[in-house]
Amino acid sequence: MATSADNLVAFGQRHVTAGISRLTEAVMTKGEGSHVSFEDGRRMLDFSCGIGVTNLGHCHPRVSRAAADQCMDLVHAQCSIAFNLPYLRLIEKLLPIMPHPSLDSFYFWNSGSEAIEAALKMARVFTGRQNVISMQGGYHGRTYGAMAVTKSKTVYSEGFFPLMPGVFSTPFPYWHQFGLLPDASEEELVRLSLYQLELVLKQQSAPKDTAAILIEPVLGEGGYVPAPLAFLQGVRKICDQHDILLIVDEVQTGFGRTGKYFNIEYSGVRPDIMTMAKGLANGFPLSCIVSRKNLTDKLQPGSMGGTYAGNPVACAAAVAVADVFKEEKVLDNVSARSHELLASLNSLRNDPEVGSAIVDVRGVGLMVAVEFVSPLYPSGDPALNPSVSKALATRVAKRCMEKGLLILTTSIYEVVRFIPPLNISQADLKKGCEIFAASVKEVIREG
Ligand SMILES: Cc1ncc(COP(=O)(O)O)c(C=O)c1O
Repeated sequence: MATSADNLVAFGQRHVTAGISRLTEAVMTKGEGSHVSFEDGRRMLDFSCGIGVTNLGHCHPRVSRAAADQCMDLVHAQCSIAFNLPYLRLIEKLLPIMPHPSLDSFYFWNSGSEAIEAALKMARVFTGRQNVISMQGGYHGRTYGAMAVTKSKTVYSEGFFPLMPGVFSTPFPYWHQFGLLPDASEEELVRLSLYQLELVLKQQSAPKDTAAILIEPVLGEGGYVPAPLAFLQGVRKICDQHDILLIVDEVQTGFGRTGKYFNIEYSGVRPDIMTMAKGLANGFPLSCIVSRKNLTDKLQPGSMGGTYAGNPVACAAAVAVADVFKEEKVLDNVSARSHELLASLNSLRNDPEVGSAIVDVRGVGLMVAVEFVSPLYPSGDPALNPSVSKALATRVAKRCMEKGLLILTTSIYEVVRFIPPLNISQADLKKGCEIFAASVKEVIREG
C-alpha cells in the first residue's frame, strides 16, 4: 500500500473511478471543528462543511460520542425487522420542530438522493398521478429518479438517458433564467415564474396528471438563490387549486443552514412531503422523508425500506445534533454570523479595487453566495461581459485554498458559495472573509 502523501494520491487516481470529480488532489485526514487537515500537511479553514453537512463543525464531541456509544450497543437494526431506539428518539426530537404540525409520519434513509426517490414514489401513490414538475436549476441527486428531476447541470444526466419519464420543469425566480439583470425586481421575478408554472400546467402536464411540484426553497447547486417568499406561497396556492402535492427539498437548506430549522418556515408554506439530510446527522449518512399520516397510510408495508435505512448509529448522532442545536443556541449564532458575512461581502463588492466584477451577493443564514461576471454566459444573458476574465469563481476558490480556506463554487454560473459551520466563531468567520477578499483582489489584479 502506498504511504507517502504523493503515493497515496497516485494510488487514488489509479483506482478511484474517474466519474468522481475532486476539488483538490489530496487526502483528508482529520477534521476538528471549523478546520480540516490533509496528509500533505496542509490545514484549512473549512467553509465547505463537506457540502453543507458538518454543520456543527467536524467531529463535534457530543455527536461523535453519541455515535461511539451507540456503536457499543447496536450498530445495525434493519428497519423491516424491528424499531430501534435512536430512530424513535429522533422522531421525538423532530416532531416539535417540523415546519407544520401536519408533518407527523417519518421515514429515514441514507442519502439525499434516496430521500428524493422515496418522495417521488410517495407522491405517485398518494395521488394516483404520475407527473412531477421540478425547477430549472434544481438539484436533487444522482440516482435515476433524482437525476430526472435535477435541472442544474447537464453533467449529471449526460450519457445516462433515458431518465424517469413524466418530469417537466419550470423556471425558478432567478434573474439569469429570465435573461434579466441582478437588480430585477422580486415582484417581477415572482410574476414571471408563477406565470410560467401555470403555462406548464396548461401546455405540458395537466393538473390531473400532475402528482407533485418539487422545489428547493433556496436553489443550491443551481446558484444559491433564495426563492422569494411570495413565489413559495404562490406555488402552494397553485398546488391547493389542483390537489397537487408540494415536495419541499430541504436536503441542503434544512437543519439550521438558513437560520431556521427549515427554510420553508420563513414563508409559512406547508409542505405535503419534505426531505432533509446533510446537516441532520452532522456527517453520518442519514436522510429523512416526512409527510402526514393520512397520506403515508396509503403506502403498502414493504414498499419502502432499505438494508441500511435509519441506521441506529446515524440516528443516535442525529439525536445529539438536535440536542446541541438547543444547548449551544446554534440558530442564534447563524443569525449573528450571517449578518457579518453578508456585510463583509457587500463591502467587498463596493470596494473600488473589485470594480464591477461582483454582480450579486445573496443568500440567507449561512447559505450565501457571491456571483462574478463572466465572458462565457449564454448569449442573450445580460450579465455576459465579453471583456472580463473567465472562470473568476474557480480561480478565486483555488486562490482561497492556497491561502488556507476551503471554499466551493456552484452552478453553471460564476458563483462561490459560503457554507461555513453553523457554530463558527466570529474570529474564524472574519479570517475566512479576509482570505476571500484578498483572493478576489489578487485574481482581479491578475486579469
Ligand atoms: C437539495 C438537494 N437535494 C438532494 C441532494 C442529493 O443528496 P445526496 O448527495 O446525499 O444524494 C442534494 C445534494 O447536494 C441537495 O443539495
